[in-house]
Amino acid sequence: MNINDTFDPGRYQAAPGRYGAMQYRRCGHSGIRLPMISLGLWHNFGHTNDLEAGRQILRCAFDYGITHFDLANNYGPPYGAAEENFGRIFREDFRPYRDELLISSKAGWDMWPGPYGNFGSRKYLIASLDQSLKRLGLEYVDIFYHHRPDPETPLEETMGALNHLVQQGKALYVGVSQYDAGRTARAAGILRDMGTPLLIHQPRYSLFDRWVENGLLDELERQGTGAIAFSPLEQGILTGKYLQGFPEDSRAVQDARYLDKDKVTEEKLAIVRRLAAMAEKRGQSLAQMAIAWLLKDERVTSVLVGVSKTKQLLDNIGALDNLAFSREELEAIEAILKPAPRQP
Ligand SMILES: NC(=O)c1ccc[n+]([C@@H]2O[C@H](COP(=O)([O-])OP(=O)(O)OC[C@H]3O[C@@H](n4cnc5c(N)ncnc54)[C@H](OP(=O)(O)O)[C@@H]3O)[C@@H](O)[C@H]2O)c1
Repeated sequence: MNINDTFDPGRYQAAPGRYGAMQYRRCGHSGIRLPMISLGLWHNFGHTNDLEAGRQILRCAFDYGITHFDLANNYGPPYGAAEENFGRIFREDFRPYRDELLISSKAGWDMWPGPYGNFGSRKYLIASLDQSLKRLGLEYVDIFYHHRPDPETPLEETMGALNHLVQQGKALYVGVSQYDAGRTARAAGILRDMGTPLLIHQPRYSLFDRWVENGLLDELERQGTGAIAFSPLEQGILTGKYLQGFPEDSRAVQDARYLDKDKVTEEKLAIVRRLAAMAEKRGQSLAQMAIAWLLKDERVTSVLVGVSKTKQLLDNIGALDNLAFSREELEAIEAILKPAPRQP
């Protein structure tokens, strides 16, 4: 059979030059390198969103060398929908490229009713990954995360479940999200004793949320664990898109489940305005500067952005063109972020 007989013009063929533009960083002490910009499907991939727009975003990402797509059991809406939609697009577009992709999922937040659909029990994590694999149409995920700390379940049980899933071949690597430095060290130790390294930590980290600088990044370096920063643009606030009000197609208007207008305060906007002026001087968009600022720390393996449009993704990828900051620029950023002393 001639290969041209099977050619379908609607079919996706990844750009041949896809590895030319992206830069990759080693994830801790592992054998894995992550694209310095990764794509998350928390928003924009639910059943309320346009599937074709999602497909364009995923194609664009891969065409620019973004090999890492991040999901979770409860991404939607409704819960599970992002995995279902990704599964469909994967089946239709990306199956030939499975071994070029690093796909992650997570469990830890509320997913189904009753006592076994939340937090960190062995029962929840194992059942949840089985469900995720069905929705995704995959035999394994590359990374499976415990999505948030569970104050009640013994850490040995949660890490034991992650290790079990690796032994079963349903996850190649494991990670944790939002664990503080102490809990991360204990989790890494328990996993190491079982022969499974803690590949990666997924913390919230942006110019507006710097809790990781308070010991977590140091601990990750000690453990040889990578870091992937989520909500690096503060869900869009750090792009400057809210400086002139609330655009109709923005997250704060379209999907206020996690970003309602009240979170877009005048105080934050005043800071954003000054940061945007600095970004302009650097010849970058504010989104690009916010991403570059995170990547200046080599311990940050990747920055995990969300996008509702391909042009946002292209803007964000442009951050890689200028990752260097002078000492004066870093000091100026600190001065902008520092809250002014309160008047007596
Ligand atoms: N582990 C956890 O607990 C956790 C929690 C949250 C997120 N995450 C992960 O992190 C990923 C990213 O989180 P996030 O979506 O909050 O990230 P984000 O990058 O801070 O915000 C994404 C939103 O910002 C806007 N945006 C992005 N780039 C833009 C640009 N260049 N210009 C203008 N607007 C732009 C878009 O909003 P509009 O809709 O306004 O266009 C986009 O949906 C998630 O998808 C998920 O994978 C993990």
